[in-house]
Amino acid sequence: MEDRRANVTADERPVYPSGRPLIHKAKPTASPAAASAPSTMLSFDQPGLCAALCCVFLSIVAANAVYLRRRRSLPLPPGPPGIPFIGNIFSVPSHTPWVRYVSWSRELTSDLISLQAFGQTIVIINTRKAVKELLVHRSSAYADRPQLPMLKLMTMDFVTGFLPYSDKWRTHRKLFHQVFQAKASLGHANLQLAEGERLIQKLSDDPDDFIGHIRHSAAAIVMVIAYGHEVAPKHDRFVDIAEETVVMMIENVTPGAAIVNMFPFLQHFPEWLPGMGFKSFARKCASLVKEMLDGPFERVKCGMADGTARPSLTSALLRDNEDGKEGEELIKHVAGTVFQAGTDTTATAVTNAIVAFMEHPDVQRRAQADIDRVVGRNRLPTLDDQDDLPFIGAICREILRWKAIVPLGFPYKAMRDEIYEGHLIPKGTTVFGNVWALLNDPEVYPEPECFRPERFLKDDGSLNCDDVGPAFGFAILMLSNALFECEMRKPEDYFKASALVAFDDSSLF
Ligand code: HEM
Repeated sequence: MEDRRANVTADERPVYPSGRPLIHKAKPTASPAAASAPSTMLSFDQPGLCAALCCVFLSIVAANAVYLRRRRSLPLPPGPPGIPFIGNIFSVPSHTPWVRYVSWSRELTSDLISLQAFGQTIVIINTRKAVKELLVHRSSAYADRPQLPMLKLMTMDFVTGFLPYSDKWRTHRKLFHQVFQAKASLGHANLQLAEGERLIQKLSDDPDDFIGHIRHSAAAIVMVIAYGHEVAPKHDRFVDIAEETVVMMIENVTPGAAIVNMFPFLQHFPEWLPGMGFKSFARKCASLVKEMLDGPFERVKCGMADGTARPSLTSALLRDNEDGKEGEELIKHVAGTVFQAGTDTTATAVTNAIVAFMEHPDVQRRAQADIDRVVGRNRLPTLDDQDDLPFIGAICREILRWKAIVPLGFPYKAMRDEIYEGHLIPKGTTVFGNVWALLNDPEVYPEPECFRPERFLKDDGSLNCDDVGPAFGFAILMLSNALFECEMRKPEDYFKASALVAFDDSSLF
């Protein structure tokens, strides 16, 4: 919360009718002006008052110390037993750990669980109630991100979602907002429709490689949005790099994933020492990242210089750039984030949709019947049809719920000591919101393992107000607590930034 006091200027301070400020500078005791000062005026020249102020100050310090000691003596959220010093490194399964976190939460009857890894504390929030309380209502305490040395070595720390709470992060957000506000002018909807048609053609020509086709189409859409470039029909260099680096990133994003994340001092050791393999891995990644960020960006600049650049996020931001090289660097990182964040997530969502249709032909038949009824068979559906196709909307939501694409979201860092139901979350703790847990909560989604789009429909067949906000993490919700009214909902601009840009209802038609 903003400290309104900080905004009060000297001129606005309450004054006596005489025009003197309430608290004024001390004057020499012998001064005749002091002797004539009104008796109610606070003045440091009175020994009694000075002593009283000292007492008040000391009492505040003492009370604060007692409070902090009591706070520090509070227990951490419960967790599974660990090995001294090593902690829980060996108790966390490498496969679907988010499921295990939920069972620990149930066994320990706690919304939060804590894990230890070489002295680092990690807290996982497993219930909707606790996510709402901590990551939304007390969002200012979790606006920061843990800085993982491995990501820095890999030069992947430019991605918006990993930036610490800083001016740079705010500028990234501003730039995203700027371009996605102007989304209509970039013609994204038409672009998605055209790519959707191409995808249908490819799927019918060569159904076996359906995952390859989906990944290619997702990359093609995001590439055009970010840079205005057409991608090569197969094995596009930039698409291949983006895929490779995103996998590298995911594999190294948790505190225990790379040894250097647990022992940051190792980054200063020479590469030839045994156990330093992470350094050559990081170097390889860094050179791919450089190629991925610089290659398409330089092509846009050349295109703008000779007038052949197609409208894109990069060209729009470059046109408005008033900050020279520094501004260019930021734009490069924002465009790189879109390419990184948008391609894999979108492709995974569409692949999950195909899997769902194959496993549930009844859902597919009902969806097709709806489209035939509303759109007919002579054209493809467009975004304009979406209000008349609530069942398709429900399918999209169920796909995001059924297979969480980013099951643990991105990690947050507690910016101060926090207490939740008698447990301490110490400042500096890495905190994960268990997205999977929320999307598989049987209280909210009965039989959560079943693919059942109807759960998002009201009795009258229209869509309910649950738009599976947690699927997209909580960082966006943090910006707008007021939106957390009856259900978690994404603010409109995140729809624009992610769901509508690359994965909207039309991707599934
Ligand atoms: C189905 C598709 C997608 C899913 C499931 C998804 C999911 C997520 C999740 C879970 C986060 C972490 C939020 C948090 O820390 O609380 C995130 C962050 C982010 N996503 Fe997406 N995303 C998707 C598509 C996209 C697309 C297409 C874009 C590009 C326009 C995008 C851009 C971003 C950005 C910039 C952030 C960082 C936000 C910040 O920290 O301020 N996402 N996304």
